[in-house]
Amino acid sequence: MKLIRSVAEMQEAAAGVKRSGRRIALVPTMGGLHEGHATLIRKARDRGAAVVVSIYVNPTQFAPTDDFRQYPRDLDKDSSLCVRESVDVVFAPSDAEIYPAPSGVNASGTPHSEASTWVKEVRLAKRLEGERRPEHFQGVCTVVAKLFNIVQPNTAVFGQKDYQQLKVIERLVRDLCYPIEIVTVPIVRQPDGLALSSRIQYLSPEERAQATVLWKALNAAQDLFNGGERNAHRLETAMLRAFQLAPAARLDYAEIADPDTLEPVHEVKRGNIALLAAHIGKTRLIDNLIL
Ligand code: PAJ
Repeated sequence: MKLIRSVAEMQEAAAGVKRSGRRIALVPTMGGLHEGHATLIRKARDRGAAVVVSIYVNPTQFAPTDDFRQYPRDLDKDSSLCVRESVDVVFAPSDAEIYPAPSGVNASGTPHSEASTWVKEVRLAKRLEGERRPEHFQGVCTVVAKLFNIVQPNTAVFGQKDYQQLKVIERLVRDLCYPIEIVTVPIVRQPDGLALSSRIQYLSPEERAQATVLWKALNAAQDLFNGGERNAHRLETAMLRAFQLAPAARLDYAEIADPDTLEPVHEVKRGNIALLAAHIGKTRLIDNLIL
């Protein structure tokens, strides 16, 4: 496995792979790698392409109140997982490489950038996460567009765990004519249903126990739906009620939406999606389930 830290070297390596007639599959991540990421990597590898995993904690997708500073950064540990999964290249650039001066991330390292070119999706990114984290998807779209331009992948793999992000990226690829196939991977969960996330390592044992409330709430909605209930408000109320049993949890939103437009629905159909976000103590988690 090759570790690449500069944009120029990554561009050269990508051109070399292409010249040799091999395809490139990119798995964009922020590190803190876990079995969810490993599943994305395996999916990328299955396609016979050279696998590039990018590891970059992107400052512009964090709000000032978010966990940018404490986000897990352990390149040795992440690299071991990538070696185990036979990744060809880990691309782990610095902030200065991705947001070069004079734009850059400011000297104190706070998530701030004076960059004046941004990539922004204005429809799917509006609601849900976008409503609570106003510049989040602009940061995601901008860094993903940069990664696509640098790595020039034929395929990029994303998880269903960040469902709205996946939909926004699919739209970005279509609207900006990237010749990239977006491949998706279902949510990888722990045995008790908690969706794997780099952020679950922040949880205390008590919080970890209560974090299953997200999965319980989604299942409450699924059970009602399977029992014939079609009123979205009743499904949302059932999710809300599940949270009353977890005092460490604070629900941010719980909604039933159309899986393509992400608009709220009133009458629920099979294939609609239940999405939720909640704080467990200070840790914000998201999850979703297709009904
Ligand atoms: P990160 O949170 O590291 O996630 C990287 C990829 O792994 C995303 O596509 C995410 O959906 C997927 N993933 C995370 N946990 C998963 C799970 N339990 N099951 C399946 N897939 C899972 O998402 C980001 O980073 C960033 O926003 C990024 C796209 C890299 C841009 O900075």
